[in-house]
Amino acid sequence: MTPTPPDPRPGRPPRGQKGRPGPVRDADQTVPDVPDADGPEGVRLQKVLAAAGVASRRASEELIDRGRVEVNGRVVREQGLRVDPERDVIRVDGARIPPPRRHVYLVVNKPRGVVSTLSDPEGRPTLADLVERRRERLFHVGRLDTDTEGLIILTNDGEFAHRLAHPSYEIPKTYLAEVDGVVDPGALKRLRGGLVLDDGPVHPDKVTLTSTGAGKSLVEVTLHEGRNHIVRRMFDAVGHPVRRLSRIRIGPVRLGQLAQGASRELTSKELGELLDAVQL
Ligand code: URA
Repeated sequence: MTPTPPDPRPGRPPRGQKGRPGPVRDADQTVPDVPDADGPEGVRLQKVLAAAGVASRRASEELIDRGRVEVNGRVVREQGLRVDPERDVIRVDGARIPPPRRHVYLVVNKPRGVVSTLSDPEGRPTLADLVERRRERLFHVGRLDTDTEGLIILTNDGEFAHRLAHPSYEIPKTYLAEVDGVVDPGALKRLRGGLVLDDGPVHPDKVTLTSTGAGKSLVEVTLHEGRNHIVRRMFDAVGHPVRRLSRIRIGPVRLGQLAQGASRELTSKELGELLDAVQL
């Protein structure tokens, strides 16, 4: 499906697109209108790589020499190329190097019982309680049921949040469900083959039975859509109600060992991959 990107950010031209030759400038080319750059012609590529923590400037020059660095889809071998770190899409060995952070991108591990909002008229614990020391006004990307735990991304980058939550970008999300009963091959086949729910069909990307025992099963389900209570309804449909549900992955971002209620920044690798996924 071809996503329909929302309007670009006001006052912010779109960054170069993946694989598309973009506004790469030679060192001796004069380029007007390069905002936030080091000088009128942008910032030297090796300086941008060093500032992004890829390698020292010297080692970044070597990466460039070896043809491992790409700007807007073009391999750059010349030294001293000036780029706009805000707008040019820079990759090392194919991995996106995100632009300098102007925004906050957090992952939180929402415990069960916390509502997926930033304020609650009923006074229940909210996501805001998990990040109360942050001063920025954050948005949460999508929701989890109050009874569901696991990964939620919070950010003050409105466009990023909007796109990440938009179903047209089809970001896969993985859930670990502890369900009643032993899920047999027949039920697994039904889950894998897709089900028709009250509000239409659902086709998971992947369903894996992780373990069974003592009248329960653990099943991992990956979906690229997020309708209300969708995982719970899928398991209800095959006769295995969910006892406990956790979101353990959003695209490249894994819950890992993040403690319940804790938060962390997205890594550069995760952010780079998500920016690619939502075409920013
Ligand atoms: N599916 C559900 O049933 N609940 C969630 O919170 C997320 C996905």
